[in-house]
Amino acid sequence: MRKMVDVTFGSSRYDDLVELRYKVLLAPLGLKFLDSFRDKEASYLHIGCIEQLDDKLVGGLILAPVDNDTIRMMQVAVDDKYQGEGVGREMVKYAEKRAKEAGYAHLVMYAMLSVIGFYEKLGFKQEGDIFEDNGITFAKMVKEL
Ligand SMILES: CC(C)(COP(=O)(O)OP(=O)(O)OC[C@H]1O[C@@H](n2cnc3c(N)ncnc32)[C@H](O)[C@@H]1OP(=O)(O)O)[C@@H](O)C(=O)NCCC(=O)NCCS
Repeated sequence: MRKMVDVTFGSSRYDDLVELRYKVLLAPLGLKFLDSFRDKEASYLHIGCIEQLDDKLVGGLILAPVDNDTIRMMQVAVDDKYQGEGVGREMVKYAEKRAKEAGYAHLVMYAMLSVIGFYEKLGFKQEGDIFEDNGITFAKMVKEL
């Protein structure tokens, strides 16, 4: 059984989340997690997915406020061993619920081209032009809550 949780910034669970994001998202691109990221993340909402059998963190994401109406979803990551089992879908749905509860009407994110189909299945629409950043191609994806 898995459960979705809000992760407190600076907690040991937050450290697990940083490690998971590094393993799934940054390391494959040869990038490092910089300590300067941490300060920015204090004001973000952190969400995790826990496998209750062994209390292990198997996925996570960040919600970062943009303005009063819009919140941005970032760093969506599922542990390699748990990908394709519905964890990503459950996490994004939980994130939508939390964003709505917090009063946001628009959810935005910048998805790598390889995962656009995942977000489309969850009701996101592509907006604007596809663009490149640091050699990676992204599309802006939006969803009304
Ligand atoms: C992309 C990611 C978050 C998806 O999470 P997941 O738990 O593996 O996906 P789910 O099992 O919840 O999949 C939900 C649906 O999306 C589909 N899907 C999953 N990954 C997909 C992809 N890359 N492209 C298209 N569809 C995809 C699944 O087939 C499933 O479809 P179904 O409802 O028809 O069965 C996860 O695989 C991951 O962390 N990948 C590596 C990091 C990454 O690329 N993150 C995104 C940064 S923008």
